[in-house]
Amino acid sequence: MKRRPLLAGNWKMHTTVIEACHLAAEIGACSAHLDDRDILLAPPYTVLSEVAHVLKDSNILIASQNVCWEQEGAFTGEISPTMVKSAGGVAAIIGHSERRRIFHEDNEMVNKRVHGALRFGLIPILCIGETLEEREGGQAFTVLEGQVREGLAGVSPDAMGKMVVAYEPVWAIGTGKTASKEQAQEAHAFVRKLLAEMYEKDIADSVRILYGGSVNVDNVNELMAQADIDGALVGGAALKAESFCRIINFT
Ligand code: 13P
Repeated sequence: MKRRPLLAGNWKMHTTVIEACHLAAEIGACSAHLDDRDILLAPPYTVLSEVAHVLKDSNILIASQNVCWEQEGAFTGEISPTMVKSAGGVAAIIGHSERRRIFHEDNEMVNKRVHGALRFGLIPILCIGETLEEREGGQAFTVLEGQVREGLAGVSPDAMGKMVVAYEPVWAIGTGKTASKEQAQEAHAFVRKLLAEMYEKDIADSVRILYGGSVNVDNVNELMAQADIDGALVGGAALKAESFCRIINFT
């Protein structure tokens, strides 16, 4: 099945308001001609609406880097799906390894966030990935299976069809050490097979699975050529227009 490529930039905790507007404008300019792929940016919460405003005449999609399961209330430090939508967002990254590792978010909380996003009409981008220790201990696929099954608990087939999954091996994030194309393809194929077991083959075949972890100008083409890799979730290389523009223009 042909899936539309999705190239996403996760800006993490980078950019002031001015820097974000400049970067967004440059990316808007270098992506205007791309009509066969989706481009998505996940800026910090503080600049979501500015970036959405700068890109209002573009096709670039805006996402938040996390999202709460509640619409409003006493949840200091959180952002609600309604807030994300009102700032121009259409999607939310959920379960990023930095949230899991540094802020102790577990599969159960990730699952609540997925449901929160879906309930209010945001596309969840569910991140999964094993640590180096887990991979070296032969646990990578068990960990991925747990993250997928628990992260998606209670998600209906219909909702699953709207979701995006991102495989980001923790050992490849920000390390300059990318998974080989074979390692990445193997993990993506595993996730797709698992989704086919949990849902239906048609649904599994329609879900976009992004690869993340030191994606750069030099490795994007070979990663994107893999059968089950439908896009990239880019960190460091998404912070410079020059490199992100070359990545999104991959051939
Ligand atoms: P890097 O591209 O900097 O390795 O980050 C990947 C990532 O975590 C994207 O969400």
